[in-house]
Amino acid sequence: MNTTSTAAYNYKVVRQFAIMTVVWGIVGMGLGVFIAAQLAWPELNFNLPWTSFGRLRPLHTNAVIFAFGGCALFATSYYSLQRTCQTRLISDKLAAFTFWGWQLVIVLAAISLPLGWTSSKEYAELEWPIDILITIVWVAYALVFFGTLMKRKTKHIYVGNWFFGGFILTVAMLHIVNNLELPVSLTKSYSLYAGATDAMVQWWYGHNAVGFFLTAGFLGMMYYFVPKQAGRPVYSYRLSIVHFWALITLYIWAGPHHLHYTALPDWAQSLGMVMSLVLLAPSWGGMINGMMTLSGAWHKLRSDPILRFLVVSLAFYGMSTFEGPMMAIKTVNALSHYTDWTIGHVHAGALGWVAMISIGSLYHLIPKVFGREQMHSIGLINSHFWLATIGTVLYIASMWVNGITQGLMWRAVNDDGTLTYSFVEALEASHIGFVVRVLGGAIFLFGMFLMAWNTWLTVRAAKPAEYDREALIPAEVAH
Ligand code: HEM
Ligand code: HEM
Repeated sequence: MNTTSTAAYNYKVVRQFAIMTVVWGIVGMGLGVFIAAQLAWPELNFNLPWTSFGRLRPLHTNAVIFAFGGCALFATSYYSLQRTCQTRLISDKLAAFTFWGWQLVIVLAAISLPLGWTSSKEYAELEWPIDILITIVWVAYALVFFGTLMKRKTKHIYVGNWFFGGFILTVAMLHIVNNLELPVSLTKSYSLYAGATDAMVQWWYGHNAVGFFLTAGFLGMMYYFVPKQAGRPVYSYRLSIVHFWALITLYIWAGPHHLHYTALPDWAQSLGMVMSLVLLAPSWGGMINGMMTLSGAWHKLRSDPILRFLVVSLAFYGMSTFEGPMMAIKTVNALSHYTDWTIGHVHAGALGWVAMISIGSLYHLIPKVFGREQMHSIGLINSHFWLATIGTVLYIASMWVNGITQGLMWRAVNDDGTLTYSFVEALEASHIGFVVRVLGGAIFLFGMFLMAWNTWLTVRAAKPAEYDREALIPAEVAH
């Protein structure tokens, strides 16, 4: 695989998405810290509808998942796609359209959600005109991705691209099916589905948003950036292929675990539970494949904080994909559902896995696309690593304690059958956990500011346009 060509890669779009990942990361996590503070100190709702928890919470989830996570996925997929296919993106214009279109979606979300325009479907709150814009941008993304893949100069398709491709196709399907709705005005629509069917479609979407947006795409990232940073080939290429097919086959069935003990037919709930338990196998197979890629390179962890980010993200991935199947067991879910345990699980995945693998990948990628040797300060990356790890641990540990406390207090009954505790008593018991979460979140957020500062110092002296003109498509052996 030793070919070179004179056409440079399109790094401009990668740079744009990479910078916006850092910006939206700060905005989204800043909002997270703010809503966490509102739960501890409700006066922070300011008695205004636009700043109320109910409106800012979906703004937080949209900002972190679609703005921060989305930009990270665009940046890393465009970067690794070009390098593993040894070819430039098929169209600069279409790629630029995906960048500006995606930013427009984010800005429209930031305006419409505080105004209270919402379809009220979790993670799919945006109203129908924005849904249509998302569809158009996503089709452009698919054209750029698969078009580039088709004109690749390498013979086979690297496994990271299978994951990115699976993520793009499945998200398109989920978005369209869950957002089939009847508009009644420019800012209001109603779902085409009703009752239990609506709930099932929503959680088929919701769970697979986790499985494909927050997992498959980030696994694509893992398969490119972990081997690159470790300087080792993927531990088992065969396992990576089994991992891909097993993961995408199983994920799609697990949605009903979000609807245990509801009006959903019992058989569907049990199916969701069993499929979730089986999902542990491919999840751990992938995690082990990523970890074992470090065989022979473990010593690098001592001096390389970027590799630490990547490896610790895999540890959190392993943890949350163990916890998830356990929570899918109906009797466990009877305790965990509605409590902060779910929130802790979410952020073990979101902060520990999604954010940390993105941050590690960006520290690898940013200097490369700005024509620098490495990030300006390795010391700052190291400080960021510790802040992110400590912040995540504080967040999830406080939510475990809160979740189990809440679950046990809610179900405690006296001999005469009355409830032992009122709801407010359980809330009071949760207060300290809420405060610890604010602290953990603020520590994580502070790390993001260090990242922004380090990125600024790195790109300040860069001359990317000159670098692009000179850059040849280098020989690349990704596995
Ligand atoms: C500084 C970091 C963060 C803080 C302080 C934070 C805080 C919060 C808070 C307070 C909630 C509402 C919990 C509740 O309703 O009881 C929440 C929900 C959520 N956050 Fe974050 N968050 C952070 C980062 C992230 C990131 C990076 C992601 C995703 C990549 C994320 C994804 C979510 C999701 C999906 C929910 C909804 C959970 C559910 O409905 O079960 N968060 N976050
Ligand atoms: C094998 C893998 C996994 C399984 C089987 C699983 C299972 C579960 C279960 C049972 C719930 C609680 C549902 C409820 O009581 O309402 C849940 C919630 C959630 N999980 Fe996971 N999980 C897995 C991995 C992950 C990962 C890696 C992430 C993040 C990147 C994640 C993000 C979420 C989110 C955002 C929710 C909250 C959804 C909501 O109610 O708004 N999960 N998961």
